[in-house]
Amino acid sequence: MKPIETVLVVGAGTMGHGFCQIFALNGIDVTLVDKNKELLDQARGWIQDNLEYMAELKELEGQPIRNILDRIQFKIDLNQYAKQTDFILEAVNEDLELKKQIFQQLDAAAPPNVILASNTSSFDINEIGEVTGHPERVIGTHWFHPPQITPCVEIIPSEATSPDTVERTILFMDRIGKVPTICKSAPGFVANRIQLAMAAEALSIVEEGLASPEEVDRIVKTSFGFRLGAYGPLEIIDQAGADTYRAVYNYLYNKLQREQFKSPRILDKLIEQGHYGLKTQKGFYEYKDGASDVIKRDRDRKFYARLRLFKEEEKSKK
Ligand SMILES: NC(=O)c1ccc[n+]([C@@H]2O[C@H](COP(=O)([O-])OP(=O)(O)OC[C@H]3O[C@@H](n4cnc5c(N)ncnc54)[C@H](O)[C@@H]3O)[C@@H](O)[C@H]2O)c1
Repeated sequence: MKPIETVLVVGAGTMGHGFCQIFALNGIDVTLVDKNKELLDQARGWIQDNLEYMAELKELEGQPIRNILDRIQFKIDLNQYAKQTDFILEAVNEDLELKKQIFQQLDAAAPPNVILASNTSSFDINEIGEVTGHPERVIGTHWFHPPQITPCVEIIPSEATSPDTVERTILFMDRIGKVPTICKSAPGFVANRIQLAMAAEALSIVEEGLASPEEVDRIVKTSFGFRLGAYGPLEIIDQAGADTYRAVYNYLYNKLQREQFKSPRILDKLIEQGHYGLKTQKGFYEYKDGASDVIKRDRDRKFYARLRLFKEEEKSKK
């Protein structure tokens, strides 16, 4: 299996410059391609500013900024540089026709063992792979802004993506300190589907005049938003109890008559089987005897660490 030593990033915008920063920080040689020199100069300036701020925050671990920047080349000729790399990450505008055209171009220029990854936020990876002669090397890697910091990368194989492409991509993401997780190619993948459902409710609440934008943001950041860095939504259901969740869903559905509050069938099934979560030792996860105490201590340790950080941030605002 060929390890990834060099990367080509296509598109020097909001995401593209962040990709170059994280690759170069991890000792990887990167080429960044965009349409003109002005856009490339702008990206270089952003990367330099970010690195200078990292140094100020003592996040650079002694790496000289010059050495990191020297690992990045800024170029216009996509075809030439597509020939000389191991991994290509496409980050052009969210326009399906444009992405298809870029993938056809990359497919023609890059040798078949080069992985072609797209950072699309929404398009079906099958549709992108289909325009190439080698769909087995096409994969979705969906990063989150700012990509040089946020850990998650959703790994989205199409039906034609080879296991080798998936494995090499995951190993590469691990190597640069990301947290890759495989999910199916479906609209919104996983994170955006959840994030947009939450945003829709936040917007409705403001629209209905129930709370101001500031009040909504403050409530989210200090309630479930505070917990979400430590526990995902399904872990939280297990801790709260599936029965409690269903009771709240039923009440909201009766009162608001909105489809999104209809208790999901998966919750009913768990309850029918007696799997309420931590309190019955099985829910979405299984819990051994005594797990309740272990989880409580683990939870408290994580939450107190977050609370300290939260209080420091509040203090620094004053
Ligand atoms: N911005 C985000 O928060 C975010 C988060 C996750 C995923 N994404 C996805 O990442 C991709 C890029 O988003 P962005 O926010 O960085 O966009 P952006 O508009 O900031 O940057 C896009 C860049 O692509 C360049 N480009 C366009 N056509 C090109 C071509 N033919 N050759 C070379 N470069 C070309 C543009 O000049 C521009 O610099 C999109 O698919 C988007 O959906 C964005």
